[in-house]
Amino acid sequence: MSSLRNYSLLMILSLGLAALVPTAEGAPNGKTTCATLAKPTIPGASVLSIQSQHLPNSTVLASPPLLNSNFTGLDLCGVDLVISHHGANDTVKIQVWMPSTGWNGRFVGTGGSGYAAGFFEYSLAPLVALGYAAASTDAGLSGDPYSPALWALHPNGTVNEDLLLNFASRSVHDMAVAGKAIAAQYYGRKPAHSYWNGCSTGGRQGLVAAQKYPRDFDGIVAGAPAIDWSRYVVAEQWPQVVMKEEGTYISQCVLGYFTDASVAACDSLDGVADGVITDVRPCNFDPFTLVGTRVQCDGGKENVTKEMASVVGKILAGPTGPSIPHAYALNPGAALDSLANTTIVNGTRVGLPFFVNDAWIKYFVKKDPDFDTSTIGYSDFEKIFNQSQQEFGQVIGSCRSDLSGFYSAGGKLIVWHGLADQLIFPGDTVAYHRNVTQALGNSSTVAEFYRTFLAPGVDHCGGGATPGAVPADPLSAVVAWVEDQKAPDVLEARKTKADGTVVTRNLCPFPSVSRYRGTGDKSLASSYTCA
Ligand SMILES: *[C@@H]1O[C@H](CO)[C@@H](O)[C@H](O)[C@H]1NC(C)=O
Ligand SMILES: *[C@@H]1O[C@H](CO)[C@@H](O)[C@H](O)[C@H]1NC(C)=O
Ligand SMILES: *[C@@H]1O[C@H](CO)[C@@H](O)[C@H](O)[C@H]1NC(C)=O
Ligand SMILES: *[C@@H]1O[C@H](CO)[C@@H](O)[C@H](O)[C@H]1NC(C)=O
Ligand SMILES: *[C@@H]1O[C@H](CO)[C@@H](O)[C@H](O)[C@H]1NC(C)=O
Ligand SMILES: *[C@@H]1O[C@H](CO)[C@@H](O)[C@H](O)[C@H]1NC(C)=O
Ligand SMILES: *[C@@H]1O[C@H](CO)[C@@H](O)[C@H](O)[C@H]1NC(C)=O
Ligand SMILES: *[C@@H]1O[C@H](CO)[C@@H](O)[C@H](O)[C@H]1NC(C)=O
Ligand SMILES: *[C@@H]1O[C@H](CO)[C@@H](O)[C@H](O)[C@H]1NC(C)=O
Ligand SMILES: *[C@@H]1O[C@H](CO)[C@@H](O)[C@H](O)[C@H]1NC(C)=O
Repeated sequence: MSSLRNYSLLMILSLGLAALVPTAEGAPNGKTTCATLAKPTIPGASVLSIQSQHLPNSTVLASPPLLNSNFTGLDLCGVDLVISHHGANDTVKIQVWMPSTGWNGRFVGTGGSGYAAGFFEYSLAPLVALGYAAASTDAGLSGDPYSPALWALHPNGTVNEDLLLNFASRSVHDMAVAGKAIAAQYYGRKPAHSYWNGCSTGGRQGLVAAQKYPRDFDGIVAGAPAIDWSRYVVAEQWPQVVMKEEGTYISQCVLGYFTDASVAACDSLDGVADGVITDVRPCNFDPFTLVGTRVQCDGGKENVTKEMASVVGKILAGPTGPSIPHAYALNPGAALDSLANTTIVNGTRVGLPFFVNDAWIKYFVKKDPDFDTSTIGYSDFEKIFNQSQQEFGQVIGSCRSDLSGFYSAGGKLIVWHGLADQLIFPGDTVAYHRNVTQALGNSSTVAEFYRTFLAPGVDHCGGGATPGAVPADPLSAVVAWVEDQKAPDVLEARKTKADGTVVTRNLCPFPSVSRYRGTGDKSLASSYTCA
């Protein structure tokens, strides 16, 4: 997420497609041309405008981590819709991109990250290049993934419930309705199949679609889903609360030392020393074993104190309390310096909360942009946690466990989550799987349409430097499941390490775990089996 920040300005500025050159051509069905597409009907909303143009030679330049390669020579029909929900006073942009030639008959809805609902051309370009028609929406928000400051509150200080609802769920459905209708008009036939592909906020949006709009998508890929939002986001503040209450703020360097030590302690439990904790369950890392050791940091050596070990222990245990149903905690092996970050102010180390929790507590729970989250102690923490769930659980919890509608509609769902996620707790993804299984009452039935793949040693959405193999192409896996009835018994994953060597793994469907066969190249998937 830290690298994402560098690109936010670029991203916000580039939403206008100034570099793209329109022409009047582009009519794959010989009747409706791209330029003459009509407004679609969206129940509950008015379509304020439609702009469509044939873009025969579009370029979208790389903008890591949103888009890692350049796309040039894209020949597409680009459609911009502006809609407004009845009674909501909102202005929602939906963008649909459709390949002018070589459409594969499929539609894909794409998601966002942080406080943004979608990233437009950065999500659409790679899909159009593969022949998909695809859509993205801003949900009527500012587009800034880092802050809801421009949309969270009305001028009178109340929460803008309409925009929160858009962010939570409504805009996912509108985008599906609009995108499919536009594609049907342009190509002269409906998409044969529709899909969702998203990670983080995008993962949550995908699960919301399965829960609330079970007929919108035939196949859904939900990576590192931000589910149980109203509780897990507050729990992201917990490491800061612990450091404040214990009066011990820890440097990034020492936090990294604790993470490395947790990997060292548990790496070999799976029989393979590869810097990856394959199964976090048997890992009993004790931070107190590091007390008294000295760590080489930029500013010289730092001593690990028992106060530091105590803080790390409380962070890894997660918060507890009457209104906290289970531990919301990072796994051993996850970096601690995102949620427990600190900075030096006037020579003193102070806490630096992660932006998602800081903004959520300020704008939504406290409804006070000036609220200082560094003042939150243990008892306030629990109150805020409870209040957030009481007020917002229904609208944005996104963890309704009844997926029977999606199951009966024939939908297929692939969820994956990095076990070394430093931002969103993988335990919630597991809890959701259990909740759905319990609601349906039969784990074989669940496996017919919903599989969860935990990715050892992978950080948030696989974006960073952690060593675990990242799902290579989960969208193709769900397409094969929907269209060819090829259920994913494993999910292929890959990582190119800094030295250029490639590690492959077949991620196992929860609850099974990858086991080394005992012989064979430890960097190859073929040397492992699911147990
Ligand atoms: C397409 O655009 C690129 C630059 O973006 C340009 O170099 C190329 O000549 C264009 N091709 C055509 C056929 O216009
Ligand atoms: C994308 O293209 C730009 C110039 O058009 C170039 O500077 C950059 O290196 C390219 N990036 C990638 C990832 O290929
Ligand atoms: C509608 O939104 C606009 C700008 O977003 C704002 O200026 C106006 O006051 C709002 N109207 C109402 C009735 O809230
Ligand atoms: C605050 O403003 C919004 C938008 O104008 C309005 O819908 C709401 O009723 C107002 N609430 C209060 C308590 O004034
Ligand atoms: C760290 O510990 C060593 C000896 O254990 C001591 O000499 C040194 O002063 C300590 N440094 C700090 C910064 O506390
Ligand atoms: C949570 O908040 C609700 C509503 O304010 C309250 O009734 C309940 O007692 C609270 N739960 C705890 C454990 O404090
Ligand atoms: C932690 O905060 C520092 C500023 O003190 C920042 O440079 C760094 O990117 C942050 N680390 C993470 C992982 O967000
Ligand atoms: C840092 O110290 C200066 C000078 O004492 C003071 O004016 C400033 O407010 C301090 N900054 C913070 C964030 O405490
Ligand atoms: C799972 O169900 C439990 C019990 O109802 C609930 O507290 C928890 O929030 C649910 N978790 C998820 C991620 O759905
Ligand atoms: C679960 O479903 C499978 C078929 O999907 C069925 O064979 C089995 O009997 C069911 N088990 C229970 C306990 O209902």
